[in-house]
Amino acid sequence: MHQKSVLITGCSSGIGRETALQFLDEEWEVYATARNPADIETLGERGATIATLDVTDQSDVDRVVDRIIDEQGRIDCLVNNAGYGQLGPIEDVPTEMVHDQFDVNVYGPHRLTRAVLPHMRAQEDGTIINVSSVVGRVSFPGTGVYAGSKFALEAMTDALRGEVEAYGIDAVLIEPGPVETQFTERVDVEVNGGDKTDGIERSGAYETIYKLLDDTAALGGSGPGAIPPAHVAADIVNAASSTKPRARYQSGPVARATVLGRFVPDAWRDALYGLVRKFL
Ligand SMILES: NC(=O)c1ccc[n+]([C@@H]2O[C@H](COP(=O)([O-])OP(=O)(O)OC[C@H]3O[C@@H](n4cnc5c(N)ncnc54)[C@H](OP(=O)(O)O)[C@@H]3O)[C@@H](O)[C@H]2O)c1
Repeated sequence: MHQKSVLITGCSSGIGRETALQFLDEEWEVYATARNPADIETLGERGATIATLDVTDQSDVDRVVDRIIDEQGRIDCLVNNAGYGQLGPIEDVPTEMVHDQFDVNVYGPHRLTRAVLPHMRAQEDGTIINVSSVVGRVSFPGTGVYAGSKFALEAMTDALRGEVEAYGIDAVLIEPGPVETQFTERVDVEVNGGDKTDGIERSGAYETIYKLLDDTAALGGSGPGAIPPAHVAADIVNAASSTKPRARYQSGPVARATVLGRFVPDAWRDALYGLVRKFL
């Protein structure tokens, strides 16, 4: 049996970093990538091959996939993990920031998927794992841009699954609820107009939603029900190692409960949001 190889995006922290470590423990050949290779030097010391990869840069994507094929002759698994959460009421988020969100969370996985698929089809085997979120199933006020990117990722993955099944390739969605990573702090930076952009344009019309977002950001990764990134990584490695992975893995109890919100009638969900707004 050949040693299996995996390419993982966004390994500088959180779920990506844990996933790289768990694949190493299972003796996979791990290609751990990040925008800044200095952030993943310790993964290199643990046995991963490290490479620079910004998922918005097609030349990075092509270079890393070509390298894996040169060195391994094949690629068994792609984990599209890199992502961030652009929060804010729909009216207040400038369209360029919506574009940036989709560039990383949707077009990024699409670029990588297109780059690996010819090789997976030729070897008639492979697994593509897309890290989505519960907000890829249920969208809440203030999360529309981020949720929109994850809904798009979910729709594309569902289509992909049917398209590549005939070639022995699996397409899997991972849907975590809150996870103890830097994600929440980075979200907070986005909401409050931090370093990534000049900030969203507060119209003054949605202050209750900002209050809700502040509370949610505080709850997020460190709140009740948040799980360690190792749990999500275990689901990813499990899916990659399975001959028949599930279409979706909800990581953690909050994820499993929240996804049920999808089956609640729209009018009930909207009424619940209205109720929450009244108490803010
Ligand atoms: N934490 C949660 O509560 C939660 C819940 C549901 C889903 N998720 C999803 O889980 C995934 C991982 O997030 P996390 O929780 O582990 O958060 P994290 O610790 O903030 O990690 C996000 C990773 O994505 C990388 N990234 C961002 N933009 C990138 C780009 N253009 N190219 C390459 N890498 C980029 C970051 O790298 P830099 O260091 O270079 O910025 C970082 O390594 C995301 O897709 C997120 O949407 C997280």
